[in-house]
Amino acid sequence: MVTIVVGTQWGDEGKGKIIDILASNADVVARFQGGANAGHTIKRKDKTFIFHQIPSGALSPTAILIIGNGCCIDPETLVTEIEELNKDGIDVKGRFFISENAHVVMPVHKEIDAKDSYIGTTKRGIGPCYEAKYGRRGIRMQEILVGDLSRGRLSRSGDLSHKLKRRGEEKYLDEMLSYGEILRPYIMDTAIFLNNLIDENKNVLIEGAQGGLLDIDYGTYPFCTSSNTIAGGACTGLGIGPTRIDSVIGVAKAYTSRVGEGPFPIEFSSSLENKIREIGGEFGATTGRPRKVGWFDASLVSYIVKINNIDKLAITKLDVLDTLPGIKICKGYKYKGKERYGPFSPSYLLSDVEPVYEELPGWCETTTKIRKYKNLPLNARRYIERIAELVKTKILLVSVGPGREETIKV
Ligand code: GDP
Ligand code: IMO
Ligand code: MG
Repeated sequence: MVTIVVGTQWGDEGKGKIIDILASNADVVARFQGGANAGHTIKRKDKTFIFHQIPSGALSPTAILIIGNGCCIDPETLVTEIEELNKDGIDVKGRFFISENAHVVMPVHKEIDAKDSYIGTTKRGIGPCYEAKYGRRGIRMQEILVGDLSRGRLSRSGDLSHKLKRRGEEKYLDEMLSYGEILRPYIMDTAIFLNNLIDENKNVLIEGAQGGLLDIDYGTYPFCTSSNTIAGGACTGLGIGPTRIDSVIGVAKAYTSRVGEGPFPIEFSSSLENKIREIGGEFGATTGRPRKVGWFDASLVSYIVKINNIDKLAITKLDVLDTLPGIKICKGYKYKGKERYGPFSPSYLLSDVEPVYEELPGWCETTTKIRKYKNLPLNARRYIERIAELVKTKILLVSVGPGREETIKV
């Protein structure tokens, strides 16, 4: 069984928590795009983990963890992440593998990204690294792995070393090769390895990063990330054929959040925004930046459901809405004087659009301790069911708190 889990909004939907839950039944957890721009939080009792590059299945002690070729790897922060997990008694050696074709985030990429003020990036060097990849001047993990060969090749051909020099990367070569040495045991051809595991009927969970509205093609371009975050990206980012995929699960917050620049028409009024930001702890897991928050956008989420072919939705952070007397859902947009319902392309948000809302009564009760769907307040169930109806998916689970146990299977 191969299941992809993707974010359906602008990231930070709670994918980490959902992956952690699903990983208890998975043999493999694999990432296919993005890099340290991701921050996936898992709360276990009194310990909070934030995964940036290592798949969020790491806490399942026997799960095989894969970083696919579609990812950008920052060797420095990856080594730190491995060491920090070790300190917490979690050893990934022997079960963690990195694609030899994944691209290396060079220090130069982070220097370039640090100057961004237009997109509001996470400054992890992701955009410049993908630019280098598609410009066919990137450095791949295999190059920092085979230190001697690489040095030999560099000095023999003069070609790459000349290019590195021109790009100001040569000064980092020794540092990168030393990371190559540390990461040597983890680097391999993960595509064949993963395909073999699928042939053996292993349970494979594919972990998306960011969200559909940040996809380079389908998101709010240019205010998006630099990779395909949608399920389709899993095939190219891991080297598996489309017919291998059995199911796509979407993760959606019960409201919407966004960090970084770009349109956000469903934003709460400022007093409500401050309140929900505080209750929901809406500050970036990677950058600590305050997130913008707003109403659930069924129109955009149904677009993302379509292009991912999402069959089930996990709704997170329902508890954050517990105190609201009335809750709006954006069910369409007024565009060029006409109201449009159903899937709405995020790219139109860059034009003059106005959200069209419907309002449902709130439940004004605490939901965090509830574990059975039927025990949720009637208005909470009505809200969830209305979302399912508008975005046209089944609901897999509802999350009512950051903890693993604060989850309701539907
Ligand atoms: P991800 O990037 O999609 O994995 O999401 P993040 O980890 O960046 O952000 C989600 C935040 O919400 C984290 O702090 C989680 O601990 C927290 N969280 C997840 N699910 C719930 C929930 O149902 N209720 C509450 N209150 N917090 C949640
Ligand atoms: P997870 O996996 C939320 C946003 C940035 C910025 C834009 C481009 O935790 O959901 P980048 O650094 O990728 O070039 O930034 O994308 N962004 C995210 N927002 N969650 C994320 O990841 C994000 N990764 C990137 O804020 O707007
Ligand atoms: Mg996050």
